[in-house]
Amino acid sequence: MKMEKHRVSINVNGKDYSEEIEPRTLLVTFLRDIAGLTGTHIGCDTSNCGACTVIMNGRAVKSCTVLAVQANGSNVLTIEGLSKDGDKLHPIQKAFIEKKGYQCGYCTSGMILTALALLNRKRNLTEDEIREALSGNLCRCTGYDSIIDSIMLADSEMAKTEKEEEIFVEA
Ligand code: FES
Ligand code: FES
Repeated sequence: MKMEKHRVSINVNGKDYSEEIEPRTLLVTFLRDIAGLTGTHIGCDTSNCGACTVIMNGRAVKSCTVLAVQANGSNVLTIEGLSKDGDKLHPIQKAFIEKKGYQCGYCTSGMILTALALLNRKRNLTEDEIREALSGNLCRCTGYDSIIDSIMLADSEMAKTEKEEEIFVEA
C-alpha cells in the first residue's frame, strides 16, 4: 500500500536535513539512510539494546523508538557530532579510548551519548548513577566495568576542560 509522504526537517549535528518520508519511518532510519550518519547503530528489533541512542533536544532517546515525524523540528546529536572538526575528539571519546570502554564497538556510540546526556545534567556521578543511566544500553563484550571507568574519567576530565574551553555539545 502506498503511503502518503510527509516533509520532515530535523537538525542533526547543527545541519538541517529535510525530506519527504513515509510516516512510519523511524528516526534511526532517517539518521542512517537520509542523513548518512551510520554511527548510530541498530542492534535489535525490540527496543532493548540502546545501540541506536542519540540525544534529541537534550535527552537521550532510542532512535528506533521515535518516528522521524515525531522528531520534526528537533535538534539531534549523533556520535558524528561530538568531534566538531572531525579531528579533535571530545573528552568522553578520549576517556573511552583511555579506559578501553569498548571492544567490538557496536554499543559504543549509544553508550557515549547516553552518558553524555547524563553528564550534561549532572556531574560527580556515582557508579550507581552511571549504572542506572546505562540500564537501557546493552554491551555483549566488555562486562561494563571499563565503560563505567570511562564515564567516570570523562566526568572528571570534562570538569577540568570546561574551565579552559567550551566543550558541552548540546542537541
Ligand atoms: S536498535 Fe536496539 S534499542 Fe534501538
Ligand atoms: S563493545 Fe561490543 S557490544 Fe559493547
